[in-house]
Amino acid sequence: MANRITKAVIPAAGLGTRFLPATKAMPKEMLPVVDKPAIQYVVEEAVEAGLTDVLMITGRNKSALENHFDRVGELEAVLERKGDIDRLRKVNESTRLAEMHYTRQGDPLGLGHAVLRAKMHVGREPFAVLLGDDLIDERDELLSRMLEVQGERDASVVALLEVEPSQTHLYGIATVEPTGDDDVVRVTGLVEKPAPGEQPSNFAVIGRYVLRPEVFEVLEHTQPGKGGEIQLTDALQVLAAESERAGGVYGVVFRGRRYDTGDRLDYIKAIIQLAADRDDLGPELRPWLASFVETLD
Ligand code: G1P
Repeated sequence: MANRITKAVIPAAGLGTRFLPATKAMPKEMLPVVDKPAIQYVVEEAVEAGLTDVLMITGRNKSALENHFDRVGELEAVLERKGDIDRLRKVNESTRLAEMHYTRQGDPLGLGHAVLRAKMHVGREPFAVLLGDDLIDERDELLSRMLEVQGERDASVVALLEVEPSQTHLYGIATVEPTGDDDVVRVTGLVEKPAPGEQPSNFAVIGRYVLRPEVFEVLEHTQPGKGGEIQLTDALQVLAAESERAGGVYGVVFRGRRYDTGDRLDYIKAIIQLAADRDDLGPELRPWLASFVETLD
């Protein structure tokens, strides 16, 4: 068994151009999903899976991220004076979550490059990577299962979701073969965003990874790929192909609820789905939604 994994890396350096002008002066990770910034869901998920050390790879314009996970004495004092314990608790939730660290990506050379920036911090242990655009429903298990599979197989592990063939060009796509476990496959190949019709399968990589540290050496030699960027998928393809080198790559097949907040339409859908499910908002929102839908053509 490998050592217990404690480190999570969260790339958060993207410019958020799909959400302009909202993201002109604010990181896209701070956009609220119902009433919490998207990034807080992701950090909470990491913590829930036992990862207590979080490194965010940020860039310019991202100071709001650091502020969000830090204390804000003035606001706390006001809420305390008012005796508004409920809001005080909400303010403090993000402060106490995890041991937070930040480093800047520098040049925006791609996801693989962002992950490589974590090398010094992570050292020689397996670690998790969580992408902020994917939210996993807290009622469904993914990351903890991936950590378990990493321990059992001593390999790198990706999260896989079966998607419609019309969607495969948006993802890294895996070629897989079965293992004895119903929710685990061996990944024999990976390709980043294949052209429509050229996908080797419908198994899309979604934004959760548990990686062996050998990925850093591979990333150091990974040339720019799709879109001229250094792709994490390309480095994982090397680990999948040379399985004797670092245990290969396995996939945990996720069949739960996942929300994409990466573009405007999916972001709106995510907010509606999550709000409709909430005890405080759902009872009023659901009937309103139903009658609103009736007014649509
Ligand atoms: C990234 C990865 C891709 C993966 C996706 C999951 O792409 O490069 O392999 O399938 O995340 O969300 P992005 O969505 O950042 O373009």
